[in-house]
Amino acid sequence: MTEAAKAATKKPVERPHVPERSASDADPRVAPRENGTKPTASEEVLVLDFGGQYSQLIARRIRECGVFSELLPHDTPIEAIRERHPSGLVLSGGPASVYSDGAPGLRKELLELGIPVLGICYGMQLMVHELGGRVEQAPAGEFGRTSLSLRDGGGRLLEGLPAEQQCWMSHRDTVFEPPPGFTALASSPESPVAATEDTKRQLYGIQFHPEVVHTPYGTEILTRFLRDVAGCRERWSPASVIDEQVEAIRAQVGDARAICGLSGGVDSATAALLVHRAIGERLICVFVDHGLLRKNEAEQVVEAFRDRLGVPLVHVKAADRFLERLAGIDEPERKRKIIGEEFIRVFEEEAAKIEDARFLVQGTLYSDVIESGGDGRAAATIKSHHNVGGLPEDLDLDLVEPLRMLFKDEVRAVAAELGLPERLVWRQPFPGPGLAIRIVGGEVNRERLEILREADAILQEEIRAAGLYRELWQSFCVLPVVRSVGVQGDERSYAYPIVIRAVTSDDAMTADWARLPYDLLERVSGRIINEVPGINRVTLDLTSKPPGTIEWE
Ligand code: XMP
Repeated sequence: MTEAAKAATKKPVERPHVPERSASDADPRVAPRENGTKPTASEEVLVLDFGGQYSQLIARRIRECGVFSELLPHDTPIEAIRERHPSGLVLSGGPASVYSDGAPGLRKELLELGIPVLGICYGMQLMVHELGGRVEQAPAGEFGRTSLSLRDGGGRLLEGLPAEQQCWMSHRDTVFEPPPGFTALASSPESPVAATEDTKRQLYGIQFHPEVVHTPYGTEILTRFLRDVAGCRERWSPASVIDEQVEAIRAQVGDARAICGLSGGVDSATAALLVHRAIGERLICVFVDHGLLRKNEAEQVVEAFRDRLGVPLVHVKAADRFLERLAGIDEPERKRKIIGEEFIRVFEEEAAKIEDARFLVQGTLYSDVIESGGDGRAAATIKSHHNVGGLPEDLDLDLVEPLRMLFKDEVRAVAAELGLPERLVWRQPFPGPGLAIRIVGGEVNRERLEILREADAILQEEIRAAGLYRELWQSFCVLPVVRSVGVQGDERSYAYPIVIRAVTSDDAMTADWARLPYDLLERVSGRIINEVPGINRVTLDLTSKPPGTIEWE
């Protein structure tokens, strides 16, 4: 599926959105960060979110250029923006037309703060429209790869880049004339003015998306804006947040104790390591092993944390309890609910044994904070519905969330810096209910878990050996509880099939089935059938998301 088609088929509810409530001084995304990660002396560039699909990505790319960046609602009060003293502002794209009813507007004062502004797509159209240029619907929209031709050397923003290049577009309205004082810098087949600037007022606009990989010079263009226009010099890196976070955690926790629920995933692991560095043995990690993990996974977590990193860890082996409650259940949502409830029960029992714990460490990420409208508690709650790692709210513990300002890839960089083993740093996402939602159409029991675990281990091993593990968003096996006839060693077999599911994705909102090489598939299939008793057939899932989901349940 092309990127444009993926974009067009995204479920609206899952899109990054502009929160409906209006931003206020009480908005935690606007308020000064007490436990933020931005180095106090460094510059920042704020991205105002007009509802674009790639708004988060813009902030991520800016950070990759070594400049701290945050996403704020487009209607963030001007005063709140001024107080942050940003070096630059970026107006994101968005789905609206400047002419449609209720379209998010642009306050002119934003362009008069003396802060350099870069408008992207809708952000550019708003700027041009507000300042008296001409924005109209083009005869045809441009969606996807588009050729871009520079004019007169490309002006300050695009100077030195190839006169002809590719870019990624996604728009119907376009700029036909720049506002007075602006120069047109480039055009594309349907966009007479695909880039424009007014260097005097430090206002810049591009119709295309520099943040997506399909704009090959996107990073250069962003860097030009950040360094040469906005004057950002200070280097920001995820690793540079460690010292600052350690200080912040010490200040928050004082002499008290904290507990952290480990899931085996990189987020909770990294949060735990940061807190451990800050308060040492006063952090106790609780690892609830529900018996639904993959082969050797529990051992790897215990080995890494307790043995290698010296973090106090309670390993609760609770498989019996979970399996007892799952007996006879095959309905997906019932399974999730049972596992979630049991998880909380076990965690509470363990937490109660840890005396004077006053804090609960959670691996809430920046994307959770943004998607929940900025309220970390809401993010935690949203997760606890979806995620078995979600913990009870009435534990009466204060939250410590040291990753609140970090994107997933930044968390990985911090994790590596803190010494988390590579296997855990790069672990593919794994659902909280674990293998239970990969045994479909029948009861989850020990025998089936064992079969699935062995088959899955072979798949993982071969995918790693082929060097594909990091390229895939997820790769796993599914065990449908049906049996088919086969012939093995001159004997009739009647056994389960295994489904191979491997997908590529950026964020799990959309996904494409991975084109795994035939020879790899052949090895995996042969090994699973030969090495795993109980399997006599291997199949491949060729479904993208949508219409499928990544997991089968
Ligand atoms: P779907 O199957 O909805 O999954 O395309 C999207 C992403 O979410 C993960 N997933 C879960 N994670 N608890 C979790 O913690 C769950 O109940 C759950 N269900 C799906 C899935 O693995 C994929 O990465």
